[in-house]
Amino acid sequence: MDLLIAHVSDIHVGKVNFLPEMLEACIKEVNERDPDLLVLSGDLTGFGFKEEFSLAREYIDQFRQEKFIIPGNHDARYRGDIYFEKHFGHGNNVREFSEELTLIGLDSTIPDLDEGNLGRGKQRWLKDKLADIPEDSLKVVVLHHHLVPVPMTGRERAVLNDAGDVLKILVEEGVDLTLSGHRHTPYSWFINNIAVVTAGSPSTEKVRATIPQSYNLVRITDKWIEVRVKEIKGEERLMSKYRRTKGRLEFRLKELECKDVI
Ligand SMILES: [Fe+2]
Ligand SMILES: [Fe+2]
Repeated sequence: MDLLIAHVSDIHVGKVNFLPEMLEACIKEVNERDPDLLVLSGDLTGFGFKEEFSLAREYIDQFRQEKFIIPGNHDARYRGDIYFEKHFGHGNNVREFSEELTLIGLDSTIPDLDEGNLGRGKQRWLKDKLADIPEDSLKVVVLHHHLVPVPMTGRERAVLNDAGDVLKILVEEGVDLTLSGHRHTPYSWFINNIAVVTAGSPSTEKVRATIPQSYNLVRITDKWIEVRVKEIKGEERLMSKYRRTKGRLEFRLKELECKDVI
């Protein structure tokens, strides 16, 4: 197995705080890198407006990779969830990318609210779907809201409301990797054998102080999961690396190499 995932989040297409030339650069960079899969973990738009979704679709169509797309809280504003579904399908879905890798997407949004929640119904759905995945397949869960607080983002807010219950399910069902966005800040945690990763934003002004616009590159081999942060028009840095052992992850590095990133 040697698979490269471009994890892009929070492109925030619209009239406010959107940096179109940065998104164009991101698309160019990703297409040149030619990953096997593009994961877009929500906040495709600024306010969930119809015109924003049409424009976001035009941009996203320029990525030449297979895509896996879920919504964020901004996409659910003003009932933008209706347009999200029209353009990109249902947020809750299972994709068997290969015999070795299965993705589960979760719609953690609540219309018109910034906070995220799954609730008992979706929790049950998640547990059932995870239980169906063969033991030797890598399990990747994608959701917009972060499961664990992210450093350098000021006052913590909008961690998934039911993050504790969801994390328990992910641990019990042997999930290997989660990919989220929302705080526009790249970071990696390692919790009960799960690599918990958030991506920055490539194309909004709403990034924090010294954190540049960026996206993540996740390389998965039989032995490693390696997460790198690629600054738009800038440097690429290793953020975290995990060793896979007997199908599960084992923490490889003593320290996450995040200090250089944020
Ligand atoms: Fe966002
Ligand atoms: Fe968000």
